[in-house]
This record gives sequence, structure tokens and C-alpha cells, in this order.
Amino acid sequence: MEKEKIILDVDTGSDDAVAIVCALLSDEVDVLGITTVTGNVEIRNTTDNTLRVVECCDKQDEVKVYRGAELPLASTLVPWGIQGKTLPRTEKESDQSLKVHPDHLPLPETKLKEEDKRAVPWMIETLLSMPDRSVTLVPVGPETNLALAIRSDERILKKIKRVVMMGGSHDKYAPTQGAEFNVWVDPEACEIVLSSGLDVTMVSLDATSTVSLGEEEAKAIRKIGTGPAILVADMIDQRLNASSKTMKGNEGAVVGVALHDPLAVCAVTHPEVLTDIIDTSCHVDLGRGFAYGETVLGRNYEAVYDENGEIMDLPKNVHYARKADKDLFYKWICGILLKGRERH
Ligand code: BDR
Ligand code: CA
Repeated sequence: MEKEKIILDVDTGSDDAVAIVCALLSDEVDVLGITTVTGNVEIRNTTDNTLRVVECCDKQDEVKVYRGAELPLASTLVPWGIQGKTLPRTEKESDQSLKVHPDHLPLPETKLKEEDKRAVPWMIETLLSMPDRSVTLVPVGPETNLALAIRSDERILKKIKRVVMMGGSHDKYAPTQGAEFNVWVDPEACEIVLSSGLDVTMVSLDATSTVSLGEEEAKAIRKIGTGPAILVADMIDQRLNASSKTMKGNEGAVVGVALHDPLAVCAVTHPEVLTDIIDTSCHVDLGRGFAYGETVLGRNYEAVYDENGEIMDLPKNVHYARKADKDLFYKWICGILLKGRERH
């Protein structure tokens, strides 16, 4: 079977790290390159963390890393959005064990370097060299890089087979006001992607929160014993610990954490992992008010017809996933990690 060609766009990031591991070790996808963006942490950290993960998977000879956008297109909501520099932090804010996304992933420092070429020119050049509709874009961070690429050279649109992105929320409470983090960081960029005419699957927070993994799963994964498996287990534990410690009032341990980003990678080759998908309109609130960055779904996806039998709604522009199959997802991760062990 021909491998699915993907470009993975990340803001690594604990769950991004798991997405990278799964993509690099999967024998069903061909990762053309990894691009980084500011999001969970600043660009220098997302890039460095990404390089560490690539080295952990021993894929540095096959897959290169391209540094992308330093700041969102227009929004200044993230702390480093205004000046692009780390702000002074209190001791508590600096405690890496309290962070869902530590500045540096718990992996050895790497000597690997990003490519000289930046993400957006590389993305454009690579896409233009490919046959039409042959590459799947998998952005699992803010959409800044893809939006910049689209705005820079619209000829790339016909090269893209589809976009399978982690982003958006509807029913699920999102900590950043009502907006899901990736969209909240760069709402304008997401809207550019959503109104590009591309075939977009949104692996939303609603869907990712149905595939939480906990301590038991982390233990089983750790037993696989390879570097990448230990990293995945560490990332689950990091998310469990950080979420438990920072939970309001420290009421107790969190038993499961959503691993958002690898679900998008899984959905590329196993679309059946997304169990509840609606085809709907979806746009981002860009009003800079309370709902800035919220993804607004068409109200009429349950099909309301006007007197002429036409569906009354904005044109449908996304396949919006609301639920996912946890067993399939977990087995998929374990299968990839076990195969990775056999190969070594
Ligand atoms: C998304 O936000 C980030 O914190 C995660 O890496 C994921 O991509 C979930 O809302
Ligand atoms: Ca991410």
C-alpha cells in the first residue's frame, strides 16, 4: 500500500511529541518534513524539542525539521505574542513539573540542527514539486505556517490532498475562554485555513477528550522499553502530574489525560478512529471580544430545509469530529511502538 505523504506541523509540546513519535515510526505514513511553530512554548523551544524527539526516534537522516512562525499573524493573546521574548516568571511559573508542556522535553540535549530553510518557503517549495492532491497537511499547533504558505502562494492549494488538523472545540470546555488552544493562539490563521476551500478534517477537543489515557496505559507503554515508548509514557505521566497538581484546589489525582495531537495523525491512516463526524460550516470568531478564537459551527448541520428543499446554512467547509474510538487509538499507538521495537 502506498504510504500517505504528510507534512507534520507542530508546537512541541508534550502531546505533539507523541504525535511525532507515532508519525515517524508508523510504516503507513511518509513524513516529508516537520515544521515548527510558536504555541505551547516559544519557537526556539518547540524547534529544539522537535529535534530531540526526532533524535529519540533515530530518524534524523530521513526527516528534517524546519523552523516556522515565531509569532501569530495578528493576535497577541499568548504571553510571548507581544514581544517574542520570555517574560519574567515566578518560581511557581518556572516549575517544569507543573507544566503540561515543559520548556524542554525530558530528553537529552541534542546536537541536531534545524535546516537553514524556514518552514514556510520549504512548505511551498516542497508542495509545488509534488503531484496535485498528493500531500496531507497535519497541523497540530496553531495554523500560522499553513496560513502564511496559503497567503504566499495559492498554487499550493491544489497540491494538498487534505488537511487533518487538531483544533477547535464546540461542546468541550476549553481553558482559554471558550476557544481551543491552537485556534486561540492564532485565530486569523485558522480562519484562513478554514476558508481556503481545502478539504479539512477538524480533530476537535470534543473528539480528543474522548480518548484519554491514564497511569495504567502509561505503565504498559513504558514496558515496551524502547526510547520512543519511554518518551510516550513520560509524556502521559507529565500531563497527568501537571494536571493533578494544577487542578483547582488540588482535589486529587487526574486519572486520564487527553492526548490530542496523535489522534490527528491516527485519523490520517485510520479515519474510522473518528466515530462521530459532522459535515458542517465552521468559522472562527475574529471579533476580538469575549469569543475571540472560538470555532462556531453551522447551526443547521442536522439539516434544516427551506421551502425550496435547500439546506439553510453557510456552505459546509469541514468534517468536524466530535468523538473517537479510544480502544482503536490506544491499540494503534501500542502497535506502532511494538513494531518499532521489532525493527531494532
Ligand atoms: C492543543 O493545544 C495544545 O496545548 C496541544 O498540544 C494540542 O495541540 C489542544 O487544545
Ligand atoms: Ca500541539
